[in-house]
Amino acid sequence: MKTRITILCENLVGRLVGSGEHGFSAFIEMDQGNYLFDTGSGRSIVPNSLTMNKDLKSIKKIFLSHGHYDHTGGLSEVLKLKGKVDVHAHHHVFLDRIAVLKEDGKEIKRFIGIRYKKRYLESLGANFVFNTDFIEVEKGLFLTGEVPRQTTFEKPDPRLFSEMDGRTTHDLFLDDQSLILDTDKGLVLILGCAHSGMINIINHVINKMGKEKFHTILGGTHLDFLTPEQLEESIKSLKKMEIEKIGVSHCTGMRAAFRLHQEFGDRFFYGCVGSVLEV
Ligand SMILES: [Fe+2]
Ligand SMILES: [Fe+2]
Repeated sequence: MKTRITILCENLVGRLVGSGEHGFSAFIEMDQGNYLFDTGSGRSIVPNSLTMNKDLKSIKKIFLSHGHYDHTGGLSEVLKLKGKVDVHAHHHVFLDRIAVLKEDGKEIKRFIGIRYKKRYLESLGANFVFNTDFIEVEKGLFLTGEVPRQTTFEKPDPRLFSEMDGRTTHDLFLDDQSLILDTDKGLVLILGCAHSGMINIINHVINKMGKEKFHTILGGTHLDFLTPEQLEESIKSLKKMEIEKIGVSHCTGMRAAFRLHQEFGDRFFYGCVGSVLEV
């Protein structure tokens, strides 16, 4: 069987396969079993999985990219169907998260962290397995763990904060991690929101895997929040890398998606609800 990745939750919908929402989730089918990367914000994961005939009860493991609600919001719904399952994440996934946004000229604070207590999720069957380092979670499947920040142009989003020990600080996103599938056609890298910086993540993966060939990079890139100069630096770095296909989603934004399409041509695609990647 081919490895197949289907986007279950995403901001946009390409075909009549479900509904869109602000969030991301990908269903992964491999010879050794099925897996779920992120869970969207909660409304669409179950109905979309039913329309697309992806059985959430069949998943062997769940991976969480970070603690924002738009990646963890569907976790309780998935657990209600699945019951006992390992949920791999960084322990900071449970931090309180806040976004400071401008709406109608006014500054507003929004809670954007995980909506559930660890104990509630455990009562539904979650067995949390925390990692901070790069690890192989299943044969050929790796999680990046904490990603070293090395580029000068990938700055954290200044509007995002987290709360730790009663203190609110700019969010460092130590929990931001991505999933790697090591296939015979090259690496497939699935990003949640890439809060660590897309280029930082790719460099970390190259370093840890000792491989440079990417079959596909897929998911949320957060490029929308960089300045035009920073975006061009990221694109310059991407063009130097060995990337066969690039499929962006979610927090990439139209400006960055159009620029990537210009640069990557046929090797670019938009990963919306119902998009399928076969490797
Ligand atoms: Fe996100
Ligand atoms: Fe995020």
